[in-house]
Amino acid sequence: MYPQLLIDLGKLNKNLNVLAALAKTGDCSLMIVTKSFCADRRIVAEILKNDAVEYLADSRIQNIASYTDQAHIAGKETVLLRLPMASEAEEVVRFADLSLNSEIETIRLLDQAAAKQNKTHKILLMVDLGDLREGMFYQNEEAILAVCDEILKMRHIRFFGIGTNLTCYGAIIPKEDNLGQLARLAERIQSRFSTTLAMISGGNSSSVYLIPKKQLPAGINNLRLGEAFILGNETAYSQRIPETCNDGILLRAQIIESKDKPSLPIGEVGVDAFGEVPHYEDKGIITRAILAVGKQDTNPDGLTPMDPGVEILGGSSDHLLVNTTGSAYHLGDTMDFRMDYGALLKLFTSPYVTRTYR
Ligand SMILES: Cc1ncc(COP(=O)(O)O)c(C=O)c1O
Repeated sequence: MYPQLLIDLGKLNKNLNVLAALAKTGDCSLMIVTKSFCADRRIVAEILKNDAVEYLADSRIQNIASYTDQAHIAGKETVLLRLPMASEAEEVVRFADLSLNSEIETIRLLDQAAAKQNKTHKILLMVDLGDLREGMFYQNEEAILAVCDEILKMRHIRFFGIGTNLTCYGAIIPKEDNLGQLARLAERIQSRFSTTLAMISGGNSSSVYLIPKKQLPAGINNLRLGEAFILGNETAYSQRIPETCNDGILLRAQIIESKDKPSLPIGEVGVDAFGEVPHYEDKGIITRAILAVGKQDTNPDGLTPMDPGVEILGGSSDHLLVNTTGSAYHLGDTMDFRMDYGALLKLFTSPYVTRTYR
């Protein structure tokens, strides 16, 4: 059944091995982020087989719960990436070994939940270096140290380290100077409290580019990688990571109509089904194919046809329209597409999209 994701586990493994080598060069432990593919069981199984991966992380506790036991059997730890909701503290402690946190009230709840479950839960304290999403603001050092002090006194929490996240909201690029501040803060915490932080987590796929340039500051010893794994992209400057694949996952969709029609709609132009005013180019009569996949399943703008002769015209909730003029496509034929991160995330999330593996 289409639409279908064609998942090439060999190519994803290749990406994993490239990242493992990069992480080793950068003296970093490797945390692979499973959220973009909704913790797909077969992909997770491949990651679990890789000795270089120490942590599997996701922003949704349901995804983590689906692999906690297998991860532990494989000797890996599980990590909740999104700051925990107060309402999920019990589940976080049950299924995640480590969670990223910035609110002392939430950490207190995790301590209580861990006490009830007779466990120790690890905390990575998030520091906001200017991207302005999660984290304690780096300039409020006294507030950060006060929180560290309280965490260190908790009986069922282990203060595992500090981390940051960049290039997510403010699109701030990780550099030696901002990540250097994280490393220096870690040093100050360690000397103030005579403690050792096990993890200084220097960000996501946007930090990867610093490794070959030897600009990842000393002290940063972990990276949390999602897009770099699933698509082979470094996300600071949108470059491909050498020797990785971006066709490890393809979308295959089926043509449900193929007709010659004008490229310009006829009549007064209002707004489309999504409230947007469409713009069209006049190319005369073209061959228009409709594929059975739509905005309910993906972002049409994030798809790239594998056939360079095909052009995406747009989409509606259930339809993707493409220009196949000059190509030999027929009703019932299928077409393959590469995808960007946003398109991929939606395709894995849609229950209408099937998956095959090789
Ligand atoms: C806190 C955090 N760390 C790491 C990641 C992974 O990001 P990327 O896919 O850019 O590697 C994400 C997003 O998925 C995140 O929210």
